[in-house]
Amino acid sequence: MATRGSFSNRLGFVLAAAGSAVGLGNIWKFPFEVALGGGAAFVLMYLLFCFLLCFPVMVTEVTIGRKTQKNPVGAFTALGFKNWRFIGVLGLVAGVVILSFYNVIAGWAFGYFVEMASGNFAVSQNFGAFTSDWVKVGLYAIVFMFFTAFFVSKGVSGGIERLAKILMPSLIVMILILVGYSFTLPNAMEGVKFYLIPDVSAINIGTIGGALRQAFFSLSLGMGALITYGSYLSKNDNIVSSSAFITLADVGIAFIAGLMIFPLVAYNNGGDMSMVQSDQAGPGLIFITLPGVFETLGPGLGAFIGAFFFLLLSFAALTSTVSLLEVPVSYAVDELRMRRKPAVIVVAIIIFVVGIPSLLANGASDFFGTAFKLPRSSDFLSLVAGLADIMLLFGGFLIVSFAAFIWKKHNLHEEIASGYEGYENTFVKKGISFLITFLCPFILAILFVLVLLDNFFGIALI
Ligand code: TRP
Repeated sequence: MATRGSFSNRLGFVLAAAGSAVGLGNIWKFPFEVALGGGAAFVLMYLLFCFLLCFPVMVTEVTIGRKTQKNPVGAFTALGFKNWRFIGVLGLVAGVVILSFYNVIAGWAFGYFVEMASGNFAVSQNFGAFTSDWVKVGLYAIVFMFFTAFFVSKGVSGGIERLAKILMPSLIVMILILVGYSFTLPNAMEGVKFYLIPDVSAINIGTIGGALRQAFFSLSLGMGALITYGSYLSKNDNIVSSSAFITLADVGIAFIAGLMIFPLVAYNNGGDMSMVQSDQAGPGLIFITLPGVFETLGPGLGAFIGAFFFLLLSFAALTSTVSLLEVPVSYAVDELRMRRKPAVIVVAIIIFVVGIPSLLANGASDFFGTAFKLPRSSDFLSLVAGLADIMLLFGGFLIVSFAAFIWKKHNLHEEIASGYEGYENTFVKKGISFLITFLCPFILAILFVLVLLDNFFGIALI
């Protein structure tokens, strides 16, 4: 244990795991998924999924991690089920795929910070030109991968913990200030209505699948990232309350990011929310719409706030990229017996190379930008992002099913009980049993198939 490192205390684990969860998924992805998913109905589904389906998966991942003190591949072997290691391998692949494109977007956010801080406030007026400039975004992506590798090479408690402790609260304060400001703008309430008053009749598999994918991605579930973080958690810590805190923090930050963005969209479009699905939807929401509003603050203050916002966003992304890189690195250290530093360097380089097509997919290369036709997108980055989401859903399904039916739930409960006084007789235990053995495996299996058909074959069954 001493050589693997561990979190210095429970707060360290909770903050690092919350840091993993909170990232571009909350601030960049969540708002535009809500926009594409039609607004409040999507938000409603998202909340349901986070608490009913994802929270039990999170408890399961953390529990397996702490029980075995292993990376996701080694964990299944350590429990005595060598044949189930493939779940961990799948997770490893998902992690590599996610980080390969996530690092590109993180590079954009970091690039926006650098550009705005050095006086190029107009960067957002030509987002397309920015993402097409492959030399520039390539460099930003390299720098970002370097930072990630640096923190991962320091080990869990040295780097990751400390980073999350200072930055998460700053990010929350910044977003809340921007929420306050956006509420004062004309037509703000139209945006709030779009975001919060659901039209339940609009719910279809697109909304449901999008919300479920977003929930898994945002909570960092389905690939064993939290098995890995759980492996550094002490036996005295309460897994259930820690997981509840992480879920609430992640959902809360996504929610306030939406409160910040949608009034701005309404303001930009004179209160007409029908535009939200077309021109500004997609990645542009945070990179075009939001900076457009910084501009109304004037070049001095606007540039300052803009630079600061993208700096904080970069940090939020960094605590997530760190958790993504940590998974394959912990595998290389535990299973391949590599030393931590060389493992970090090798894995980071591999992932960067895998990400090069994603780097070129938004303007730099016609081929990577248009040749990958799916029902709703045709660029390489969207393709891998969609594939990764599907892998997370499948992984989540496999992990709970494994815990409930193969490892058996009494073993799960036994591990949860350590650090949770009186767990045996609680309602929480009954609830977790029900969710893990009934609700999660069956609902996840059904939704996985529906989402797969809809996203990759354009077949919408509901
Ligand atoms: N949850 C992070 C975000 O919202 C991204 C992330 C980090 C992630 N680690 C993960 C997603 C593991 C899935 C699995 O930005």
